[in-house]
Amino acid sequence: MAQLRIPGPTPCPDDVLQAMTKQMINHRGPEFAQLLNEVTARLKQLFQTKGDVLLLTASGTGGLEAAIVNTLSPGDKVLSVSIGVFGDRFASIAETFGARVTRLNAEWGQAADAGVIRQALQAEPEIKAVLVTHNETSTGVTNDLAEISAVVKEFDKLLLVDAVSSLGSIALPVDHWHCDVTVTGSQKSWMVPPGLVMVSLNQEAWQANAKAKMPRFYWDFVKAKSYLEKGQTPWTPAISTVFALQVALDMMLKEGLDNVIARHARVAKEARDGVKSLGLSLFADEKYASNTVTAVAASGGLDIKKMLKILREEHQVVLSGGQQRLDGQIFRIGHLGWVSEDDIKKVISAIGAALPQAGFKRAG
Ligand SMILES: Cc1ncc(COP(=O)(O)O)c(C=O)c1O
Repeated sequence: MAQLRIPGPTPCPDDVLQAMTKQMINHRGPEFAQLLNEVTARLKQLFQTKGDVLLLTASGTGGLEAAIVNTLSPGDKVLSVSIGVFGDRFASIAETFGARVTRLNAEWGQAADAGVIRQALQAEPEIKAVLVTHNETSTGVTNDLAEISAVVKEFDKLLLVDAVSSLGSIALPVDHWHCDVTVTGSQKSWMVPPGLVMVSLNQEAWQANAKAKMPRFYWDFVKAKSYLEKGQTPWTPAISTVFALQVALDMMLKEGLDNVIARHARVAKEARDGVKSLGLSLFADEKYASNTVTAVAASGGLDIKKMLKILREEHQVVLSGGQQRLDGQIFRIGHLGWVSEDDIKKVISAIGAALPQAGFKRAG
């Protein structure tokens, strides 16, 4: 079987996959209510929140759209802090629904600068909300969200966080860091197939929701919450994926959140050290290098597309290339969810074998 080491979807443990083979149940019946209540309680533990956590059937992007349309009105001013493809996407969603977006774009590979965010908030007091990507999957950079949040809250703005590729593997205590809306997706750290997004909301988010006028139907958080209170979702949920999530959450809680986070830190170090030992260099500023995805820059004549093909066809190792303007410029190793240091050692050894065939010549 191929080693799937892309930054999501991630491999799933056998017990998680097995759970998905269970027969369907009535999503308006007591069995589903118990399942949803259990899953929601466990998610709250892992989000470290006393707020609400809603389970929506969607991909990560749907969760980002839900976060925007439930808290903002057309014409609202929004500050987008973008450090890559997914930050840009968050901003575009807000624009699509009529927000006036000020885009603060950092150079790709770099983290956002809290000082620059402070200046932007000082310059435009009308800004209502700040959009931030915790972990930018396209560049392999993790923002210092605690620091960013402290600045956003200095100005008392709403903080909407894309934690699609961080929550559940990189520390993100949602309440402690005052994240008002936080979005993550089942196919990333959670070791579950695609299909579900999990979104937390605190009191400030609900207050914003009460005034928000952007159009919404499928994404309506008020409906989601009122159905959750009776153990249901407003629309037919991806039941099999919820079965899978229940098992995966159990595994995560057994391992312990701190241990899960520490494992990701060790695995990421293995990836970074391994890549460097081959004479390659990291794309991301190492101070902010992500513990869920390592982006590696093309150098030494390396033909990245050729290398990815060799890895796939000869080593059964599947990695990701770069997105948009990083296509052909970087490759990315996903190491989130169900992953160990040994898995990454094997990936590094396969890369080492493929490099010469893909034109790479080590400097010096
Ligand atoms: C940080 C981040 N945000 C948003 C998304 C979008 O998620 P999806 O592809 O599930 O819509 C991704 C997916 O890779 C992501 O990594």
